Amino acid sequence: MSGRFITFEGPEGSGKTTQLGLLREWMAGAGLPFIATREPGGTRLGADIREILLTPRADKVDPLAELLLYEADRANHVGQVIRPALGAGKHVLCDRFYDSTTAYQAYGRGLPEALVRELNEKAAGGLVPDLTLLFEVSAAEGLRRAKGGDDGDRLEGEGLDFHERVWKGFLELSQREPERVRLIPAGSVEEVHARVLAVVTETFGWTGNS
Ligand code: TMP
Repeated sequence: MSGRFITFEGPEGSGKTTQLGLLREWMAGAGLPFIATREPGGTRLGADIREILLTPRADKVDPLAELLLYEADRANHVGQVIRPALGAGKHVLCDRFYDSTTAYQAYGRGLPEALVRELNEKAAGGLVPDLTLLFEVSAAEGLRRAKGGDDGDRLEGEGLDFHERVWKGFLELSQREPERVRLIPAGSVEEVHARVLAVVTETFGWTGNS
């Protein structure tokens, strides 16, 4: 049987990576076969692309060039890692996938959404996540950001406006495809983990001792 493809989406500081780690532990305990991976950077080529994309730099990066680098990472990742794992019956937990591209490159950078969607579909080879968990940023993190916070990597260094557009994009995606893109409200790490488990077990019928 083919594995399930679960993607973790949300702004920086939403705790999605922590939550992926907790679900991964739970799945290991339940004896479910899986791999955990991420975009950008899920292949060796992807690790190089990630470094190019995230290292702060003095020169301006053309938004179309940025989009194509994310899609190049994705095409390699889907072909070399995600599809083979799903085909081997493993579930795939992926930290970001093409909804990030719609949110960041279309809503954030302002590239035409139709173009972003077309390239997303091409790079993913038609693969669609079975479930996308969309994590909200906590009020505390939102406030830190509003005050200017630290600037971290190249995209984290973008202004508040950019991140507000990105969040609007994510929300619209969850409104458009509510069955697939499930909004997980912010809370403590434990509360959010409980919400994730509730959605995942309800969606796939998994139990703690599958
Ligand atoms: P991460 O640090 O959460 O792994 O994400 C890396 C950064 O790349 C984050 O700022 C979001 C950004 N990103 C895009 O802009 N477009 C994309 O398609 C993906 C996958 C990530």
